[in-house]
Amino acid sequence: MMTKYHCLAFLVATLVLLSSCINAQTVQKSQTDALLKWKQSLVNQSILNSWVIQQNANLSTPIPCNWFGITCNNEGQVIGIKLNNTGLNGTLEHLDYSSFPQLLRLDLNTNRLTGTIPFTIGILTKLQLLDLSTNSLTGTLPLNLSKVVELDVSRNMITGGLDSRLFPNGTKGTKTGLVSLKWFLIQDTYLSGRIPSELGNSKELKLIAFDGCHFFGPIPTSLGNLSELTALRLAENQLSGQIPSNIATQRLTDLRLFKNQLSGSVPRDLGNLSSLVTLHLAENNFTGQLPPQVCKGGNIVNFSAAYNMFSGPVPTSLRNCTTLFRVRL
Ligand SMILES: *[C@@H]1O[C@H](CO)[C@@H](O)[C@H](O)[C@H]1NC(C)=O
Ligand SMILES: *[C@@H]1O[C@H](CO)[C@@H](O)[C@H](O)[C@H]1NC(C)=O
Ligand SMILES: *[C@@H]1O[C@H](CO)[C@@H](O)[C@H](O)[C@H]1NC(C)=O
Ligand SMILES: *[C@@H]1O[C@H](CO)[C@@H](O)[C@H](O)[C@H]1NC(C)=O
Ligand SMILES: *[C@@H]1O[C@H](CO)[C@@H](O)[C@H](O)[C@H]1NC(C)=O
Ligand SMILES: *[C@@H]1O[C@H](CO)[C@@H](O)[C@H](O)[C@H]1NC(C)=O
Ligand SMILES: *[C@@H]1O[C@H](CO)[C@@H](O)[C@H](O)[C@H]1NC(C)=O
Ligand SMILES: *[C@@H]1O[C@H](CO)[C@@H](O)[C@H](O)[C@H]1NC(C)=O
Ligand SMILES: *[C@@H]1O[C@H](CO)[C@@H](O)[C@H](O)[C@H]1NC(C)=O
Ligand SMILES: *[C@@H]1O[C@H](CO)[C@@H](O)[C@H](O)[C@H]1NC(C)=O
Ligand SMILES: *[C@@H]1O[C@H](CO)[C@@H](O)[C@H](O)[C@H]1NC(C)=O
Repeated sequence: MMTKYHCLAFLVATLVLLSSCINAQTVQKSQTDALLKWKQSLVNQSILNSWVIQQNANLSTPIPCNWFGITCNNEGQVIGIKLNNTGLNGTLEHLDYSSFPQLLRLDLNTNRLTGTIPFTIGILTKLQLLDLSTNSLTGTLPLNLSKVVELDVSRNMITGGLDSRLFPNGTKGTKTGLVSLKWFLIQDTYLSGRIPSELGNSKELKLIAFDGCHFFGPIPTSLGNLSELTALRLAENQLSGQIPSNIATQRLTDLRLFKNQLSGSVPRDLGNLSSLVTLHLAENNFTGQLPPQVCKGGNIVNFSAAYNMFSGPVPTSLRNCTTLFRVRL
């Protein structure tokens, strides 16, 4: 009897082992095929010379983990694709994202990628970093992104607006949405429209860099709810209205609002913010006095306020602001 059970157990164990082995091989073949298919679609492939299948090679690292720009986990599954500044000329459309269920980082910045960011990229549910900055991508931001921590699509020809569905209220029951986003960079794109107040739902945000886009309308007061925010960069847009009075959160070190159509007075609390290092207010339509305590903490290094409608004296704290690198009034 015992031997029979042993035999059965052995059989089951073997089957399990075999199936997991086959599964791992299937995954490796699928991701290898997907990378080779993408390589075929790219114009200049010389940077990808290592992306070949060497028959019968004795490799300490299995294919494709030994290929240029590819990182794997211990199970041989691709977790990183990093091909920044390698002259890639092609599109993102020929990469089968479903072959990389464990992918954490996709870094393709500074290349010659054209076409759109395919919405199928949303199938990468583990993805933490998506850096597609400095390419020639068109179309708009896919709604299907989820759980990305760092998103950089700056310096592309991306159009459209920031859909409020990108920033769902609460994490419960949301399969998509940028609920874990900390670094959000879309500088120098053609993104336009209003900045949705739902942006304030992404509570982990540390950096908002929207400089050089085409946003108009007010700065949402919900941004004052972002307690982790250290940098708010909205310069060179067409924003109007006042600076929300609650924007001066304790961690904010960098506030850039120059070249907009903002008006009204600058919240006095901005002057009490000892954490502020950079404050750029130039080329707006601000009125009233500059905050009297603008250099109180002695941290402000870069400050500009020229081309506004400010009145009254230069704050005494500014006159004695020895840390100032550059003042424009
Ligand atoms: C391909 O890229 C390499 C560098 O990655 C460059 O030296 C070469 O000139 C390029 N060839 C073409 C045809 O663009
Ligand atoms: C494969 O390479 C390792 C060292 O990298 C060596 O110890 C081993 O004998 C090689 N196996 C075959 C089949 O060549
Ligand atoms: C790619 O980015 C890394 C930093 O993440 C940088 O050190 C490296 O020089 C970049 N590669 C190229 C070819 O620019
Ligand atoms: C990319 O490749 C295409 C086709 O060879 C070529 O026409 C185009 O000029 C290349 N783009 C860049 C930015 O080099
Ligand atoms: C996101 O993509 C997945 C896989 O392609 C799909 O099942 C899902 O419906 C998409 N969701 C949205 C909101 O587009
Ligand atoms: C989030 O959504 C819930 C239910 O839809 C609602 O009760 C709550 O007021 C919302 N919270 C915010 C901050 O919008
Ligand atoms: C800020 O957060 C609080 C609590 O989460 C919420 O009640 C309030 O509506 C939020 N304010 C804005 C302007 O979104
Ligand atoms: C900031 O300083 C002004 C005086 O310049 C003072 O009236 C105000 O209460 C201060 N605010 C805080 C939060 O300390
Ligand atoms: C600045 O404000 C004044 C008075 O409120 C208004 O007449 C003017 O058109 C505004 N200028 C700009 C560039 O917004
Ligand atoms: C201040 O601005 C100068 C010139 O733009 C820059 O080089 C420097 O890094 C800035 N310093 C800080 C602390 O932001
Ligand atoms: C100006 O700064 C100097 C050096 O930090 C300090 O000794 C002096 O008391 C300050 N003067 C005023 C009016 O704050």
